[in-house]
Amino acid sequence: MENETDPRRIRILPSLLAADYGRLAEEIRRAEAAGADALHLDIMDGAFVPNISFGPPAVALATKVAPGLPRCVHLMLQHPERYLEDYAKAGATTIQVHAESSCDVAAALRRVRELGCRAGLVLNPLSPAAAALRHLPLVDEILVMTVYPGFGGQRFMREPLPTIRALRDAAPALPIMVDGGVSRDTVALAASAGADCFVAGSALYGAADMAAEIALLRRLADEAAR
Ligand code: DX5
Ligand code: ZN
Repeated sequence: MENETDPRRIRILPSLLAADYGRLAEEIRRAEAAGADALHLDIMDGAFVPNISFGPPAVALATKVAPGLPRCVHLMLQHPERYLEDYAKAGATTIQVHAESSCDVAAALRRVRELGCRAGLVLNPLSPAAAALRHLPLVDEILVMTVYPGFGGQRFMREPLPTIRALRDAAPALPIMVDGGVSRDTVALAASAGADCFVAGSALYGAADMAAEIALLRRLADEAAR
């Protein structure tokens, strides 16, 4: 069983958003067989972000077809607090809530833990580190977006790198994840700023050999983190 909690271990998470939706079960198993540490599932409501993706049934499918692969659920929702139970029931192991969503973020993070899931807090690319630091005791990981959320296949932004560095300095043992535009060309930038968990959609589901690409991202991140 993969471990989501080891401090400072490099973790690679394929994002199901970039998968072939005609073969979702196979695409989930493909990530597991390729050595993914967890699966990243992007939930979009068409309000917090200008796009709609999938909901609890996709998480439940992952729970069913790859029970040993942890499920990291990234909620891009105006009102994440209304859906926490649904995603916990569907088998989320981590639930990530945006600091910019329209809810009592601290209460939502507490509720995620009460539901037995790891609690993640997400910052948009230009949100300050302080927006996460104020919730530090309530979080098991922080995700810093390196694109504006809503779509896969966008270009990696460098503006959040100082935020990642500030968070790493403030919380040396906390998993810090990046999401958006992560590939063999950008993973080292994020790792040298202090990130240790990497979400990649198009770079992994678009690779001819996902296992080799995961191994490459892991090696590049590991070298840059030293
Ligand atoms: C964007 C999502 C990402 C997305 C990343 O809103 O949060 O998880 O799937 O896709 P890539 O890796 O293609 O930028
Ligand atoms: Zn995401």
